[in-house]
Amino acid sequence: MIFSPQELKNMTTSVSSIALEVGEMLAKEFNRNITFEEKTSPHDVVTKFDKESEEIIYKKLKALYPNFGFLGEEKGYRDYIEGEPYWIIDPIDGTLNFANNIPAFAVSIALVYHNKSQLGVCYIPMTKELFTAYKDGGALLNGNKIQPSETKNLDHAIFALPPDQITFKRPDFVVRRQGASVMDICYVAKGAIDGFYDPLLNPWDFAAASLIAEEAGAESFSLKTKSLETNKKSDILVANKNISQDFSMWLLKQSSNLI
Ligand code: IPD
Ligand code: CA
Ligand code: CA
Repeated sequence: MIFSPQELKNMTTSVSSIALEVGEMLAKEFNRNITFEEKTSPHDVVTKFDKESEEIIYKKLKALYPNFGFLGEEKGYRDYIEGEPYWIIDPIDGTLNFANNIPAFAVSIALVYHNKSQLGVCYIPMTKELFTAYKDGGALLNGNKIQPSETKNLDHAIFALPPDQITFKRPDFVVRRQGASVMDICYVAKGAIDGFYDPLLNPWDFAAASLIAEEAGAESFSLKTKSLETNKKSDILVANKNISQDFSMWLLKQSSNLI
């Protein structure tokens, strides 16, 4: 199934309304003593709002697009048919932030087909930033076109990196990490930071945001495979095109030092 640009544009508009509605609901709950349960570790947590948001998104998407499948972080695959288009949802990216009254979290929805994202919508409720993109249609922030930074030099860069990638011996770049990968990747798209790397993310952490970054003009790929597939966990680098090569080289050198 190949979608026309008009179909993708229309679907992006519908999905944006859903992300906005769920995001506004989350913004109302923010700072209200949110209780959470541990999943796999004390820092891997889930709230009732993760589950409720995923359910709302599922029901709304199902009503609009009954033939598409669904993969959500909380409930896994539903109505999925191999080879057919499906949604990939992270109802709250940055749950640990949300549950600890840190205003960095996002709602993320992507439509994927044959392991490639066709459209992506990411909404950051507390900053009211709605990032949208569809294949070959460019990337928008609240309806305005965005582009990545033009920083060329590692010494001048701001990167979002996990703690084990930050060593004392490194170029003079600055590290700013939000604890919500969706937000970090969207911030590469809008040029707030120059690059992002994570050694292992789930598809719902990057399916929408990586398309937004690419459509804005950035690069996103796995350092291991050099491409990006939405059907499996992956390492992921996202960076402006001027710096992605040097950033990759530095990360590769870094990981060989870490082994
Ligand atoms: C997490 C965030 C975080 C990343 C973790 C993810 P969640 O997503 O994106 O930045 O480092 O690997 O699990 O659990 O808050 O949806
Ligand atoms: Ca996530
Ligand atoms: Ca999540």
